[in-house]
Amino acid sequence: MKKIGIIGTGTMGCGIAQVASQIRCEVVFQNRKQESVDRGLTRIQWSLDKLVSRDKLKQAQSEGIMDRIHGAVSLEELKGCDIVLESAPENLEIKQDLLETLSGIVSDRCIIATNTSSLSVTKLASFVTHPERFIGMHFFNPVPLMSLVEVVSGLRTSDETTAAVCAFAKSLGKTPIEVMDLPGFVVNRVLFPMINEAAFALNEGVSDAEGIDACMKGGCNHPMGPLELADLVGLDVVMAILQSLHREYGSPRYAPCLAIVKRVEAGWLGRKTGRGFYTYSK
Ligand code: CAA
Repeated sequence: MKKIGIIGTGTMGCGIAQVASQIRCEVVFQNRKQESVDRGLTRIQWSLDKLVSRDKLKQAQSEGIMDRIHGAVSLEELKGCDIVLESAPENLEIKQDLLETLSGIVSDRCIIATNTSSLSVTKLASFVTHPERFIGMHFFNPVPLMSLVEVVSGLRTSDETTAAVCAFAKSLGKTPIEVMDLPGFVVNRVLFPMINEAAFALNEGVSDAEGIDACMKGGCNHPMGPLELADLVGLDVVMAILQSLHREYGSPRYAPCLAIVKRVEAGWLGRKTGRGFYTYSK
């Protein structure tokens, strides 16, 4: 994989573009809005500076990373990519539209991977011309620091595609684990009900946010408490994942807690808006 396309310049798209460029791939970083591309590039630069300042990346290694990431507003610029990773918003219609268009642009040997965390990979595969070369590659936030990639084969994904994507994930320095195409895969199915339960505990006054997070860090050795993690992921994303699990499995245990829903309604989406369960300074 030498030339990598990324559709979507949000948190996950930025992280994937960064790690692909770090292993010297050429990256086409696409969003239909130029301002979103620019914001994404600034964010990647921030992450690189942070990694260098914390001695997780050598200054010399960081050079050239930004030069290999080429911003693009048109999907046409993804022509010639060996693999395209779709990391657009979690909305079936948006993804359908993108995948149908992309399918007519990339070559027959290009693999298309989706970073969806809650939609069916088998369903998304039905929007492309070559479903055997379509697969899920589910990365975790923050991508440069998290080692896992859940590799999700749809019903029509070929074994060659799965093997190629596992090898690619390893070349990115990640650990691929193959999981079934069922809602939430493994991590989100286990993690998001835990975050939801923490929000219920907060609502019922079991402890305050700091107390709940401190319990889970001190009692379970989690690197972050569930509520600070929810703020990192984004409460809009947390709510959407819970709603999707609720819809797909039909079980009330996944219904999002009002402590999450009300914050999303207020625009308190976590770190990205400066307020969620916690308040953040700039
Ligand atoms: N690039 C570079 N640095 C970053 C970064 C990024 N993308 N994101 C955060 N950081 C920095 C922070 O700014 C912070 O720096 P400061 O202390 O200077 O502010 C630093 O990383 C935090 O470093 P720590 O020393 O406190 O912690 P660490 O480096 O040992 O670990 C961590 C950080 C890996 C994020 C760890 O806290 C962790 O594993 N947290 C849990 C993350 C998790 O569970 N992610 C999964 C979310 S669910 C998901 O992603 C799926 C989905 O579909 C939504």
